[in-house]
Amino acid sequence: MSINDFIKQLDTLVESAAEQFNSAIEKLDKDILENARIEFLGAKSGKLKSAQKGLGKVEKADKPVAGKKFNEVKQKLEGLFQAAIEQIEKSRSSTEVKEQFDVTLPGTRISTGHVHPITQTIEELKDITGRLGFTAVEGPEIEDDWHNFEALNISLEHPARDPLDNFYLQTAEKNTGKDNLLRSQTSTVQIRVMEDTKPPVRIVSLGRVYRPDEVDATHYAMFHQIEGLMIDTDVTMADLKSVLLLFAKTYLGDDVEIRFRPSFFPFTEPSVEVDMRWRGIWLEFGGAGMVDPNVLRSVGYDPEEVSGFAFGLGVERLCMGRHGINDIRYLYDNNVRFLSQF
Ligand code: DAH
Repeated sequence: MSINDFIKQLDTLVESAAEQFNSAIEKLDKDILENARIEFLGAKSGKLKSAQKGLGKVEKADKPVAGKKFNEVKQKLEGLFQAAIEQIEKSRSSTEVKEQFDVTLPGTRISTGHVHPITQTIEELKDITGRLGFTAVEGPEIEDDWHNFEALNISLEHPARDPLDNFYLQTAEKNTGKDNLLRSQTSTVQIRVMEDTKPPVRIVSLGRVYRPDEVDATHYAMFHQIEGLMIDTDVTMADLKSVLLLFAKTYLGDDVEIRFRPSFFPFTEPSVEVDMRWRGIWLEFGGAGMVDPNVLRSVGYDPEEVSGFAFGLGVERLCMGRHGINDIRYLYDNNVRFLSQF
């Protein structure tokens, strides 16, 4: 065998080994690499081993050159193999996480929060009364004696002022020495609005009120009311009834009926209890009436010139009636399984 043939044979061997090592690197496949190693560097029948036999067949004078070439090729192949292993291992460890991600698997649903049923009710009631021409206003939850009682014609000896029925605070109203309290009704806002505005007035106020009631299926120490007030010349009880009927029909549905029962509130004369019949049962929703002349006078209005009606309904009752909720405590237990239904 000529020295040239021998060298050529070794060069071809290096070329095809490098090709197979590279294809293993491309596929990051250690099995392919191992097969290529056995094929070329295998100790028993590897191609390099076979090529070694050519060493004995070259001219004697060429032997040193041939031996040197053989050693270079051997080292070259081992180096290529080693480099290939390292590269495959490096690439695999950096892509391992990506390889485990299967984009065809179904995703995990993300649960988002949503608005509490009472807040939903408040927004809807504001919307309905807004369409009836009532502007929504707010008042403070910490009130003074004047706005919660006195201006509303609730006399000093009236039982509504009983400390057992109110959350009095140990802060006094300015210049009076009377204790402030957490408001027990949203009627307070009627006074605040009338003190600041000249008639006509057409407002609703929705918000929290507080009473130290014992908690049961229908009572909670904090609840919400929707208060309405309309003042103008010649406002009558018929206006009150038609506004409340429209309101009830829009909120509960066309088949709703409404009923007034005679009642008493210090701030209205005459006064009524408002019931609504829905799905066959009469439910109590709150009180209403024509604003008492004493109340109009307390805010500087002239009862000879203007008249008006007012109403105060329980927001929880409206919400519970509409959704068939039979215990007010569900609304405040913060149980996600309950709340997520709304
Ligand atoms: N403030 C009364 C209550 O909390 C409800 C009420 C009755 C409000 C008659 C009114 C009204 O505006 O006219 O029990």
